[in-house]
Formats: sequence, C-alpha cells, structure tokens
Amino acid sequence: MCGITGYVGYRQADKILFECLKKLEYRGYDSCGIALVTKNGLSIFKDQSRVGDLEKKYVKTKTKATAGIGHTRWATCGEPNATNAHPHSDCSKNIATVHNGTIDNYLELKKALTKKGHKFKTETDTEVFPHLVEEYMKDTDAETAFKKAFAELKGSFAIATVIGGEDKIYIGRINCPLVIGVMDGEYIIASDSTTLLKYTNRFIYLQDGDMGVISKDKVTLFRNGKTVKPKIVSVENKYDDTELHGYPHYMLKEIHEQPRIISSTIDDIEQLTLLINQINKDLGGIKMIRTLSCGSSYYSSLILRYLAPQLLGIPTFAELGSEYCSLTVAPKGSLAIAISQSGETADTIKAAKEAKAYGYKVLAITNVSDSQLSRLSDYTWITKAGPEISVAATKTVMSQAAWMYAFVLANPSLRTLQKKASISSFRKVPELMKQLLEQNDETIEVAKYLKDFEDIIYISRGITYPIALEGALKMKEIAYIHSEGYAAGELKHGPFALLSEDIPVVALVSHDKDYSSLVTNLREIKTRKAPLIVITDEKDIMLENLAEKTIVLPKCDATYVPLLHLVEVQLLAYYTAVERNNPIDFPRNLAKTVTVE
Ligand code: G6P
Repeated sequence: MCGITGYVGYRQADKILFECLKKLEYRGYDSCGIALVTKNGLSIFKDQSRVGDLEKKYVKTKTKATAGIGHTRWATCGEPNATNAHPHSDCSKNIATVHNGTIDNYLELKKALTKKGHKFKTETDTEVFPHLVEEYMKDTDAETAFKKAFAELKGSFAIATVIGGEDKIYIGRINCPLVIGVMDGEYIIASDSTTLLKYTNRFIYLQDGDMGVISKDKVTLFRNGKTVKPKIVSVENKYDDTELHGYPHYMLKEIHEQPRIISSTIDDIEQLTLLINQINKDLGGIKMIRTLSCGSSYYSSLILRYLAPQLLGIPTFAELGSEYCSLTVAPKGSLAIAISQSGETADTIKAAKEAKAYGYKVLAITNVSDSQLSRLSDYTWITKAGPEISVAATKTVMSQAAWMYAFVLANPSLRTLQKKASISSFRKVPELMKQLLEQNDETIEVAKYLKDFEDIIYISRGITYPIALEGALKMKEIAYIHSEGYAAGELKHGPFALLSEDIPVVALVSHDKDYSSLVTNLREIKTRKAPLIVITDEKDIMLENLAEKTIVLPKCDATYVPLLHLVEVQLLAYYTAVERNNPIDFPRNLAKTVTVE
C-alpha cells in the first residue's frame, strides 16, 4: 500500500512533495517522510505523523533542493513507527528509497547483504533496496546498479530512489501503480495521476516491469532490457472539489452529496443503454454476470445479484476480489463487472486480470477514469461521485448502488412499461433522500444509545441485506464498535447464542415481499431480550410493539428503499463515532485504497 511521490525540476521540491503527500494520504497515514537531494548528499525528514504535522516541524530546516522523493505509509512490513517510516537509506545514507507494495524475497536479500557487512535499522522489506543499490554501486554506475537491484526483487512494488548529489529519480514498478507527470523542464511522479492534476494533465503511465531514470529535462524508460520512447497521454483535467464547505467532517459532507449522485446516475441511463447495447453486440447477449469487488464495493455488487436475475433473467454471481477462484473458461455471453471506486484495489485488479485470461469481457465500474482497472478492462463506466476524501466510503458506495439499479433500467430487455414506471419512482429518490438528511434527531438519539455497547448486530432480508452488511462495516470502521451484518434468517443458525440485553440488533425493515418473514425474525430476537432498533420505511403497530427505538425513513417506492436505508446506516455510524469522539475521516489502521493483496 502506501503513496509515493517525487519531483525533479527547477522549483523547491519540499513544498511540492508535501502537497502531493497530503493528496496521497488516502493510501495510508501511519507515518510519512521525504528525502531531498542536496549538493553533497541527502536530507531525510520522517516521522510517525500525518503529513501536515511533519510539514509544520520541517519548515524550520528548509532547504532549496530541486529533487526529492516522498512517502505516506500504510504499514505492511514492520510496525507503524518513526524508524520504519520511509524513505529508507543504505549504510552510507547517500541512497534513499520509497516503496509501495511488498518485496516477497526481502528476508533472503537481507541475509545475503548482512553477510556482506550491510547494517539494517528497520523491520521493513523496503530497506533492502537502497542497500542492494549500494552493493552494486561498488562495481558499477548508479543506473546499472539500480537496474540490477530492481531485477532481484520479487513481489508487487513501485519504487523511487534518489542518490546524494544527483538531481535524478530512479523508478520502477511491477503490479503497483506509478505515473510520471510531464511538465516543461520538470517531472513529478506519484502513485496516481489525480494527485498530480494540479500541476499537469500530461502523463506517462509505466507498464509492469518498466524502469526509468528521470532528470529535469528527460525521462529514460527501459522495458524488457531495451530503451523505449515514453508515451505521453493527455487526460481531461477535472475539477477537484475538496473543500469542507462548512461541514465538520468530509464524511458528513459526502453523505450530503448523495442526492446529487442519484440524479446524475438517472440522467446517464440513456448513455448506459448505449454501452449495454455494445456489450450485448460483442457478447451475443449477456447470458451471465460475475461481479468482482472488495469491501463496500462488494456490498454494492450484491444489489445486482438480487436485481439482475429477478428483473432481467440474467444469472448473477458476486465474487470477492480476494477470494476469486473461478478456474473455468467463461461460458459464451459471460460478463465480468469489476467494481472499485479507486480502480486500484489490488485484489479486484488481480481478479479482473484473471477473468480476462479466462475469456470474460470485463466492464469496470470505477470513480477514477485513468485507474489501472479502467485501463485493463474492455469497457469502463465512470461513476460521478467526484473525489471522496473520507476513508469510510459513502458517496462512492451510493454511486455504485445507484448504478446497479441503472444497469437494470438501462437494459433493453426490461419491459418498456415497467421501465417507465420504475424510472419515474427512481427520480423521486433524491428529494426523499434530502428529506432524510434533514431529519437527524432520531438518528442522534439512537447513536447516543448505541455508543456504549461493545457489539451490535445488523440484520435484514433480500435486497436490503447488503445494506445491513454495509451498516455494520461503517459502524466498525469509524465508531470502532464490533458489528456484524447477517441475513435475518441466518441468525438462528448460531448467532442467536450471542443474543442478550448487551447486544442490540439494528433491523433494516422495508415493507416489501420479505416483510413478514423479517417481522417473524424480529419477534424471535425480542424473545431473547436483545434490544431492537428498527429502521423502517413505514411505522406500524407490529414494529412499534417490538422496537426499543425506531427510525422512520421518508415513504418511498419499495424498490428503492435500500438506497434510503444506505443513507441512514451511514448517518448512524457517523453520529455514533461523533458521540465517541473518534477521528471521523481518518480512522485508525485503515487506508482508503488497498493496493496490496
Ligand atoms: C478499502 C476502503 C473501502 C473500500 C474498499 C474497496 O478497504 O476503505 O471503503 O470499499 O477498499 O475499495 P475500492 O476502491 O476497490 O472500491
């Protein structure tokens, strides 16, 4: 994981590196650091802190370096402390490396280097790299040493290295992203292009196995042992609204953006029909769907598992990217839909590559147009959530959930009348969502009640079940309360043993075909004395009798109630975390984009 950056040019590098690192913190924020190239060596500043805090400390020792590298860490190998913070250096402290990913053979390399007299100070895998370069530099020039050292690594990684006295950055990548931003007389690198959009919209995307050397006036790229001409790609420079606009946290601001996201998804339905027509043409009709995704994106994909078979007659299977194990050749008409807001999640990318290898056409649903996922897929649909800062995903999840509905509505096989009626109900959702966002009293009351519990169970049935999973995930993620989501019918197959006054059950109830079975389950839970919190689209006497506390959603067409439930479980987690004084936007131990398997 982690975010890496680097700059070489004529401007002061430190300011640019800190600016880029702040944008890269979504990839991890356990520690951070920079290495600047000076005339006689390197200046390294690093700590177990957020980038803003390191920058404040750093100002006192300002240098005028015009080349350097930076890193923000999500600890994979070695504790999250100041010693393990990147950049890491060799024995001479003249070579420094930042790294995203994992070096699988670092223990063997470390052992061999230790035998040769190298001294290691950290627990990280990264530290072997500057030592390897140092070792090779005993007999050869820096560029050859970098190439030889890079060739020895096994695993998935993106690496940037600087050497004292040289205004150059040595780079390389396998399976982890790295992009070079191109300017006049200066270059800037980062783990993603969005970070660099403030500076340029012209990029060189490195392929797996590429290595390069960047100086202020040129990039030399090596591929399969040969020098290749770098291909510069211009991308659309999108507006990047990352202000808080008066909200206390990004998470709340992003929750409030969701009505707009539903509206724009509906506006794009015709466009989506064109894409589906193209896919149908290429596949001879979509006969089977396999979704590939992780985390909240997986929960969004479960919505399609309910909708597509029922309304389109297309068998749909939802796979976790990390557990994808279909080892058979895709039957004719098979479509893999890879869902990832970042488009960079390692497990999803691996699953999508595997699906392609087995003959699936891959459709990427992502929020980032030039992400790895979108570049490897046959088709891409860009969700219109805009940049999401809060680590706990909300509006991007909503954009995916709404897309699942739009996919069905845009499908030519859905009967016209059914489609018309359903689109007109869908159009009412943004307004109902706004109403829900304005009525927070019941949610805050329930949050105050839940904040002192150590365990919470979320349940629902049918298409709302994925929202129960997402609700439990959000509660764990930001309120740090152990929460589990269950299909209500499954509770009696084990979890019932846990039920007591100490474990509240949050039930997401919709007045749809699953209502009666769900109410039966609620009665069983009440009998076991677990406090019941009911979130429902309609109050009724049955629910009033059972519930300790009730939150009522605005009345909505039953098909779309899950989208309102989704907003409500986000708000409930948010207000519970606020009650517990937790850091909302950057919860402990997490990263927004998970680029390791
Ligand atoms: C991380 C994030 C989650 C996200 C998951 C998948 O764990 O914290 O919010 O759902 O990755 O991310 P993706 O970018 O593939 O949607």
